[in-house]
Amino acid sequence: MKGILLAGGLGERLFPITRATSKQLLPVYDKPMIFYPLCALMQAGAREVLIIVRPTEEDRFRSLLSDGSQWGMDISYAIQPNPNGIAEAPLIGADFLGDAQFALALGDNIFCGGDFDARLATAATTSTGATIFLKRVEEPGRYGVVEFAADERPRRIVEKPENPPSDYAVTGLYIYDGDAVSMARGLKPSARGELEITDLNNAYLARERLSVVRLSDDDAWLDMGTPEGLLEASQFVASEQQRRGERIGVPEHIGLRNGWVDASGIERLAASYGDNDYGRYLRRLIGDV
Ligand code: TTP
Repeated sequence: MKGILLAGGLGERLFPITRATSKQLLPVYDKPMIFYPLCALMQAGAREVLIIVRPTEEDRFRSLLSDGSQWGMDISYAIQPNPNGIAEAPLIGADFLGDAQFALALGDNIFCGGDFDARLATAATTSTGATIFLKRVEEPGRYGVVEFAADERPRRIVEKPENPPSDYAVTGLYIYDGDAVSMARGLKPSARGELEITDLNNAYLARERLSVVRLSDDDAWLDMGTPEGLLEASQFVASEQQRRGERIGVPEHIGLRNGWVDASGIERLAASYGDNDYGRYLRRLIGDV
């Protein structure tokens, strides 16, 4: 399983904040935003990850995430010259992907809690074709929404419908097989000039190769693309960490759990933080405090 993390885009809804920096580098409580979706990809088993960034931003992401070897990963970068849409990701990543299965995550989404880890792990090992993750939401019209047939199977996905056919929104995490690249090549830009991920998912659906996983109401999914979403996400992370007595969105933790990095690797990383709070937390992970 490979991974693609989409961290390009204009971030217009956050202007002026995102005029001089990428949205995915903004702080979400105690970590940069991108740590959260990166952790979701790591949980899906993606050790080799391509990060797609807008022009001029690669160095900033590199100075934060490096080549991933500190977490036992292999992270590389690709530029998206223009924000041509989420479904451009398989095209930009074609050489990186070869014909591998991969998970695609939006750089401004958080997934957390309940049974999410288990659901993701199962989907990652059993997915054929494409798998999307659905979440029941109060305002489905803001998202891609699934219309179900009488037998509960998905019939089609409609992008930002005025009259949503269900309450189930398509979230920003997808698993695709190696055919995604050639299928994305067949897409045409939408009326807003973007290659739409909904069109790619509908193409899988038309071939009866799309599976849907419904997240439970206890699983949290947050979209951090607006000022309200950003604030809500920081508040969510703070309160969730307080409740659990454990942090979320810590790549060192997932790397350790996946067996990609060992205690001495974590110790070295902790040392690089000196005696700050994050460094102390890393030491706690390896029982060194
Ligand atoms: P969006 O939130 O749909 O777009 P955006 O980030 O450009 O924000 P705005 O609508 O406010 O201008 O994007 C979701 C994620 O996908 C986000 O992490 C940015 C990323 N993305 C790309 O990397 N390339 C793209 O072409 C698009 C549209 C989004």
